Amino acid sequence: MIFKDLLNEDLASQIDSETAGLGIQDTLRTLSSRFQGEIAFSTSFGQEDQVIADMIFTPDLPILVFTLDTGRHFEETYKVMNQTLAKYNKKIKVCFPDKDQVEKLMTQKGPFSFYESVENRRECCHIRKVEPMQKILSQVSCWITGLRASQSDARRTLKRFSYDAANQVIKYNPLIEWSIDQVKDYLKLNHVPYNVLHDRGFLSIGCAPCTRAVAEGEDIRAGRWWWENNKSKECGLHQNDQE
Ligand code: ADX
Ligand code: SF4
Repeated sequence: MIFKDLLNEDLASQIDSETAGLGIQDTLRTLSSRFQGEIAFSTSFGQEDQVIADMIFTPDLPILVFTLDTGRHFEETYKVMNQTLAKYNKKIKVCFPDKDQVEKLMTQKGPFSFYESVENRRECCHIRKVEPMQKILSQVSCWITGLRASQSDARRTLKRFSYDAANQVIKYNPLIEWSIDQVKDYLKLNHVPYNVLHDRGFLSIGCAPCTRAVAEGEDIRAGRWWWENNKSKECGLHQNDQE
């Protein structure tokens, strides 16, 4: 049993060194026995997440796979979720936001409050994503994500392993050094289902009202919260390890 207060940045560096020579699947296997019953992978069914899901589901690794259903996803996202369930025949845990908070938000501010101010947008992300994520991360010691360094300037400095002090978890970003072409090649080679919106200019996919397609040459994350001017387009899920 691993206790959360034994986790820290030193342990993250130690695991990084110990797994340096291993491929991703072997690293996932090593972590799944080290953090038995306390290791989880978060998926939004984006193309990076589909690579990792394939690496977990194909060898049937004992890692909890979960998704946060914000209630505002694209139909296409549910389709790729459904295809994934059908292909691998494995469970994906679905986490919903707190019903009372969503009801209050929608009742007081309506369905599109996030377009009105950054504060409102952060409030919605907090209720629909950050809090549900915190809730599930409170139950695990190791968190796997599909972050890649080349997704944005803010993500360029992310490490393969880090310690997320706010959530008290060791965070593993297996695809941190992968290019988008490597991701696409893997999906094709292994016949992994992916969100069809990726073929229509949607490079990074979040909630439907907050995501749009980007033009050729535009930043990967330019289509997320596109009406905001701030450079760091983050919803708060990944801001604990970016200093
Ligand atoms: S976000 O913070 O801007 O939404 P992004 O869409 O780039 O993040 O996804 C990065 C990683 O965050 C994903 O690989 C996944 O691990 C996690 N993530 C993002 N959205 C969700 C979601 N709805 N459910 C579960 N995990 C998610
Ligand atoms: Fe709300 Fe948009 Fe954030 Fe989704 S991305 S939680 S709809 S503000």
